[in-house]
Amino acid sequence: MTHHMNHTGRLGGFNFGRGGGGGLGRMALPLAIGAIAGLAMSQGRKLAVQGPSIAAGDWMDALKLEHRGVERLFEALLATDETQKLKRNMLLGKIAYALTKHANQEENVIYPALKEAQPNGQADHLSHDHAQIKTFIFELKRMDAADPRWLLRAREFFELIQHHVREEEDEIFPGLYASLSEEENGKLTTMMNWEGYKVA
Ligand SMILES: [Fe+2]
Repeated sequence: MTHHMNHTGRLGGFNFGRGGGGGLGRMALPLAIGAIAGLAMSQGRKLAVQGPSIAAGDWMDALKLEHRGVERLFEALLATDETQKLKRNMLLGKIAYALTKHANQEENVIYPALKEAQPNGQADHLSHDHAQIKTFIFELKRMDAADPRWLLRAREFFELIQHHVREEEDEIFPGLYASLSEEENGKLTTMMNWEGYKVA
């Protein structure tokens, strides 16, 4: 949410500066400074979001750490009741944001690497899970959070996530990791961190 606000503000600032009629006029300068500050803030925020993943070490540790984060958010979400609409929507928003970043890393780097190393359909299976995850997020966002079915749907969503995470962590990721050289794993880590940073 903050991301969109910063982004719009930044664009607005630039547009106004240009529309002001050539160069940085008296009105445009503060806006330009604001735009630069906004840009720096958004870079800092991106680093703060991607930092823990980078600090985790290699790509597999980073993805595991993100799994734990999403699980914690789900535990809080599943502990809510029908009177806590705002909290439900806030937690769902956080989950959706974390999963979008996570999915960008997996879908753009790890799954293609998996498909190349092990062309046995596992990568396609995991991609299919991600499509289902997006459907769950869409459905829950559209549903009234006070609806008695909301929590049941959220629970089904978490079951899918847990199953997906277990497959990745217990079997598929260690298999891929072991099949690659240290250098190849290092390259994947760098590529994956960049994909995460882009959407952090
Ligand atoms: Fe994952």
